[in-house]
Amino acid sequence: MLRARLIGTGSHVPKKILTNHDLEKLVETSDDWISTRTGIRQRHIAVDETTSDMAAKAAKNAMKAAGVSPRDIDLIVVGTVTPEMCFPSTACFVQSQLGIKSGAAAFDVSAACSGFLYALDVADRYIRTGAAAKALVIGVDRFSRIVDWKDRSTCVLFGDGAGAVVLSAEKGTKGVLSCHIHSDGRHWEMLYADSPCPPSPFEEKHISSRYLKMNGNETFKIAVRTMGQAIGEAMETNGLTPEDISLLIPHQANLRIINAIRDRLKLPDDKVYTNLDRYGNTSAGSIPLALDEAVRDGRVKGGDIILFVSFGGGLTWASSAVRL
Ligand code: COA
Repeated sequence: MLRARLIGTGSHVPKKILTNHDLEKLVETSDDWISTRTGIRQRHIAVDETTSDMAAKAAKNAMKAAGVSPRDIDLIVVGTVTPEMCFPSTACFVQSQLGIKSGAAAFDVSAACSGFLYALDVADRYIRTGAAAKALVIGVDRFSRIVDWKDRSTCVLFGDGAGAVVLSAEKGTKGVLSCHIHSDGRHWEMLYADSPCPPSPFEEKHISSRYLKMNGNETFKIAVRTMGQAIGEAMETNGLTPEDISLLIPHQANLRIINAIRDRLKLPDDKVYTNLDRYGNTSAGSIPLALDEAVRDGRVKGGDIILFVSFGGGLTWASSAVRL
């Protein structure tokens, strides 16, 4: 049986750092409020690079770690909701920037902060069915373009960043063990960003706020519930107990959400990866960025089982279990 084995990880964040203290000069907030309510201390902001630039840099690092060349990749799937253009896709820009062979398939998936796990699910299916042999899966977002920097209830939460993995079709026990992706469009108004496109002259009514809007309190509650359910699905499908899990990498939105999930699972602190203090919520970039750090820091090694879980606008939520 073919499995999608993770053979390389990579990430990229822009150089510019915006600390909580910097935000104190932009909106009425404080380092104390942000860090106690969210766990975030700083975030990275793209200044002279686009979403696809960040994606390509993360992908290049992942390909280097995997030891694969641009001609080996036959599928590129990018999870993002902040592409620089309506079309072409960010995946096509990445293909062009990295010189990935002509004829490979390249497309984006839109699932907000669950974008990476949605993209992983798609690529995993291509690999298991034999439709692709080597896939590049990228999660990237540049929320600094869509947050309202005058709205203190949202702008303090987000940052820019990208992460990527290379998947290889291989026989054996290592690789993606399961993916579960879900959505509930009835609750789209909890968290959304309207189109940045100007209205058409034929439209009767164009309601566009352009900026990200969020009902923080409700989002918080639904995130804890749905991420808990998604982890349960991954564990049940694979017959896993908390002891079998080497590391849980949750979407990095709020430390209090992560702690609530940790407590439900009764996992010790050192089995739950967090880096949101340094990056904030990088949306689709969050999970692969954390994975890349965990791999490079030696927090995980070959054979370890990792659980990923995410939640985002849509509403969407997802989980995946992987044996490294
Ligand atoms: N600085 C200072 N005060 C702030 C603030 C900020 N940046 N943002 C909001 N406040 C104020 C509010 O205006 C409110 O003031 P009031 O009591 O005078 O009305 C007070 O702080 C409490 O606001 P509340 O929204 O109840 O705070 P909270 O403890 O629920 O935390 C979030 C707000 C946004 C941090 C929290 O709800 C959250 O993280 N939700 C999930 C969001 C998320 O992760 N979304 C992405 C999912 S992918």
